[in-house]
Amino acid sequence: MKELIKKLVETYGPSGSEDRIRDTIKREIQGLADEVKVDPLGNLIATRKGDGARILVAAHMDEIGVVVTFIDENGFLRFSNVGGVTPHVLLGERVVFANGTIGVCGAEKLDDIKDLKLNKMYIDIGARDRKEAEGKVSIGDAAGYWREFSDLGDRLVSKSMDDRIGCAVIIEAMRRVKNERLPNEVCFAFTAQEEVGARGARTVAYGVSPDIGIAVDVTGTGDTPEGWKMAVKLGAGAAIKAMDRSLVAHPKVKELLVEVANREDIPYQIEVLEYGGTDAGSIHTSKEGVPSGVISIPARYIHTPSELVDYGDVESCVRLLVETIKTPLKGRF
Ligand code: CO
Ligand code: ZN
Repeated sequence: MKELIKKLVETYGPSGSEDRIRDTIKREIQGLADEVKVDPLGNLIATRKGDGARILVAAHMDEIGVVVTFIDENGFLRFSNVGGVTPHVLLGERVVFANGTIGVCGAEKLDDIKDLKLNKMYIDIGARDRKEAEGKVSIGDAAGYWREFSDLGDRLVSKSMDDRIGCAVIIEAMRRVKNERLPNEVCFAFTAQEEVGARGARTVAYGVSPDIGIAVDVTGTGDTPEGWKMAVKLGAGAAIKAMDRSLVAHPKVKELLVEVANREDIPYQIEVLEYGGTDAGSIHTSKEGVPSGVISIPARYIHTPSELVDYGDVESCVRLLVETIKTPLKGRF
């Protein structure tokens, strides 16, 4: 799977600019679904037709980034955030625009580092003046982190593991069930605009009208020095969400995932995330309500250019997803 992961994480695609990553995923899932479509917001939905319950499985394909708000006379770009980027993480980082233009994030001279806010920062694309800068970028253009994938062996590091690793989990699961007759209808969605408020998932859920929703996304860990107190740790298996800021997992969905993990001997851990949310936040409140849960890939340094995951956990998540969609769910929800 490492080759697939590298390809996905290194592809450009801040929220709202998902064309390129969507094309990449489309190529990877060729021949794995009965129907593939793109909805008006740019979500990619691949359906394995079937009887039984309709399951929506969603991972977001967008990544966090920055957007140009102003270009000054010396060619420096002022910018705002697309999703959750933090100033001190950006300092000295390189970002890349859709056309390949690379920029460095710099900051004004500050007496106190606590004053570092995005409006005290700028992007330097190497332009000498406004005219030269305007030849490369325009107001409203978005950029993402520019960083390579690193294979540390059992651990993998990259930008945009959030949530391309979730996309990789879904693609790999689709491959593994390719020749199986599934007892459910499964809609695999690669959603747009999660990082700006799970917006793509909202229209996907409306269009698909599922009986049950499962998001696949990263979650934080509590296993770094003097870190957040949290029970999830890297290498301890797939995380099954109990709650985050966008969702209280439906008890029946949580129980289903736990039951499948126990039955198939898949390592898992129960997760409560005190910050952040996922596509399941939008899915579970769509229409009359959709029982929803989340399979989470534990990740350190989320929303930095170096999000770190454990390869064994990724495998556990793939297996948990595969065995869940192979379980007959009609009448259970
Ligand atoms: Co995120
Ligand atoms: Zn995410």
